[in-house]
Amino acid sequence: MIISGLEVSSKIKAELIIEIQQLKKKGIYPCLSTILVGDDPASAIYVRNKHRACSEVGIETKDNTISPSIEEKKLIELIKRLNEDQSVHGILLQLPLPEHINQFNVINAIRPLKDIDGLTYYNAGLLLNKQPSFIPCTPLGVMELLKYYKVELKGKDAIIVNRSILVGKPLSLLLLDKDATVMICHSKTKNLKDKIITSDIVITAVGNRKLFKLTDDLVKDNAVVIDIGISRENGKVMGDVDYENVSKKASLITPVPGGVGPMTIAMLLKNTVYAARRILIQ
Ligand SMILES: NC(=O)c1ccc[n+]([C@@H]2O[C@H](COP(=O)([O-])OP(=O)(O)OC[C@H]3O[C@@H](n4cnc5c(N)ncnc54)[C@H](OP(=O)(O)O)[C@@H]3O)[C@@H](O)[C@H]2O)c1
Repeated sequence: MIISGLEVSSKIKAELIIEIQQLKKKGIYPCLSTILVGDDPASAIYVRNKHRACSEVGIETKDNTISPSIEEKKLIELIKRLNEDQSVHGILLQLPLPEHINQFNVINAIRPLKDIDGLTYYNAGLLLNKQPSFIPCTPLGVMELLKYYKVELKGKDAIIVNRSILVGKPLSLLLLDKDATVMICHSKTKNLKDKIITSDIVITAVGNRKLFKLTDDLVKDNAVVIDIGISRENGKVMGDVDYENVSKKASLITPVPGGVGPMTIAMLLKNTVYAARRILIQ
């Protein structure tokens, strides 16, 4: 059975449209401000898609496309201005940043109440303490998919091939909080195959099929397979999974495209609306 991120994200967007209309009646116009540093084509496409998705549901956007040579200090000054801007509810810093910029310093300049990607140490700490506020969009999207398709997590063995702060680490906490037993793997993991084959839920986010491809011999019968990775082969967008063969063994599987990608965007919209809505309770 295919896990359709397109279907689930469409439902979420339809609900958000209604909520945004209600917020606007109360004088709140949800607004996302994006920051893109440099001219990486893939990042530019991601930011453009996020703007398009915002406009589809009625979220306003402000674009800040910055030269790759910007000094870290200047970037932090821009973030501080956006922190103070009452018309901006969410700030999205598109990663990765150029190497001369310290990612940790810049991310943590974002006011936690506008950190719709959930990457500041404040929001990461809340998640660690089971008091989540903003949860990173991709892990949140994966959890929504598992919930929608009623995947039982309690006591299940889940494996995540990725240890980034954007994907693997927050996702491991979310799965743990749902009583799964979680293993996090990465490029230095030994005997990866032996670990994946025993797992009930396999989540992969490597994004380089030359380094890692999830083939059907690695997956146990009826496993749930979630593919977050994105790479391009001959101009075609692919995941980490050998979809054609693994789909014959898995009980549930996400396609690429049309799986986790649309959910990441839907969660970005949801988090932005949540940021705007919080003004009502302050
Ligand atoms: N669909 C979506 O909405 C969405 C959202 C976010 C990200 N993504 C995609 O997900 C992928 C990962 O994103 P990211 O930001 O987390 O990137 P990242 O930081 O580069 O993470 C890649 C992970 O893969 C691991 N890895 C590399 N080679 C491996 C190997 N041979 N065996 C096992 N693990 C290996 C790395 O291990 P080390 O830590 O040891 O280097 C790292 O943990 C990318 O393709 C990205 O485009 C998709």
